[in-house]
Amino acid sequence: MKRIALIPGDGIGVDVTRQAAKLLSALAEAGRVAVTLDSWELGAERTLRTGITITDEEMASLCTDYDALFLGAVGDPRIPDNRHARDILLGLRFKLDLYINLRPVRLYAPELSPLKDIGVEDLDMVIFRENTEGPYVGMGGTLKEGTPEEVATEVDINTRAGVERIIRAAFEYARLRGRRRVTLTDKANAMPHVGGLWRRTFADVRAEYAGIESDAVYADALAFDLVRRPARYDVIVAPNLFGDLLSDLAAGLAGGLGLAASANLHPGRPGLFEPVHGSAPDIAGTGQANPLAALLTAALMLEQLGWADEAARVEAAVREVLAAGRTTPDLGGALTTDEVGDAVITAALAS
Ligand code: NAD
Ligand code: IPM
Ligand code: MN
Repeated sequence: MKRIALIPGDGIGVDVTRQAAKLLSALAEAGRVAVTLDSWELGAERTLRTGITITDEEMASLCTDYDALFLGAVGDPRIPDNRHARDILLGLRFKLDLYINLRPVRLYAPELSPLKDIGVEDLDMVIFRENTEGPYVGMGGTLKEGTPEEVATEVDINTRAGVERIIRAAFEYARLRGRRRVTLTDKANAMPHVGGLWRRTFADVRAEYAGIESDAVYADALAFDLVRRPARYDVIVAPNLFGDLLSDLAAGLAGGLGLAASANLHPGRPGLFEPVHGSAPDIAGTGQANPLAALLTAALMLEQLGWADEAARVEAAVREVLAAGRTTPDLGGALTTDEVGDAVITAALAS
């Protein structure tokens, strides 16, 4: 039996997590997986009501009492500094030291892409985003706040150990999955200190993986090249911030944030699984949220928990529902979040 904590969070995080929970419960009832689901009320409502984002006890329980965590999305316009989201989401990533943010990008059907003349074989990549360092660590501060002389810093922390382990994870993944190339992205031309560390480390690690091609592409050029010729890219390894930006861009090429799944991992520890998208306040509560990213994220979680066959069935069910045009408005359909969720669950149970 695997224990899963569900953190629906805010906005459409709640809507899409409900679909993931329905799927997991349906698979459990059918005897195809053995999971228990606990729902956690963390998010903006709680923070606004009590002033508390997440307690030390809650953090400790989430980190030790579960086999996996599933998070919908956190972020609410009523908390403009995003304090609760940082405490909860970045808090879990850092506390569990989930240094791999794995973000697969796959085109399920050519018509989902805004690119013309593209085939499904042209867009199939995996982004390995460093997830515990960079400017996300919260090191920095402000001086003379609110005055014309205000100063602000956000320090970009990069350690040899942190850089090496994410690069190694990308190469290991490429080796195990038969991927042909690993591309490093950085801004070594403008930021030579951090860039030098990434490039030297990349050179050292790639020397151990003779059969795998590798190259380095500046992050600005990569943003352009991903649009121009996505087929060139396979596994991409990126520092935290560039990985964040490029994963939304790549998701846009493959049909949008409504389809983009992600996993935060550290081998041997419970993973944190979340769709790439945020709480989408512009459509929250309208029934328009696409649940497919969350359902594909649930599939990633099932795979990590040891149910690779069930994960593949869920992915196949998503393909089937897409092929039938049974989608939410972001993909041109007229179904609601709940209807798409039900369609995927029905297809998954039938397979
Ligand atoms: P967003 O990803 O929430 O939305 C960007 C655009 O994509 C919006 O127009 C939205 O309607 C659309 N969209 C996103 N997911 C969709 C889905 N499943 N179906 C249909 N359309 C979808 O990004 P944002 O607007 O910049 O952020 C909103 C809030 O979410 C902010 O507070 C942000 O910090 C937070 N956020 C949280 C996470 C997370 O919890 N993992 C990730 C990203 C952003
Ligand atoms: C993501 C989000 C988060 C990030 C935000 C909400 C802190 O954009 O998971 O991609 O920047 O990592
Ligand atoms: Mn993001």
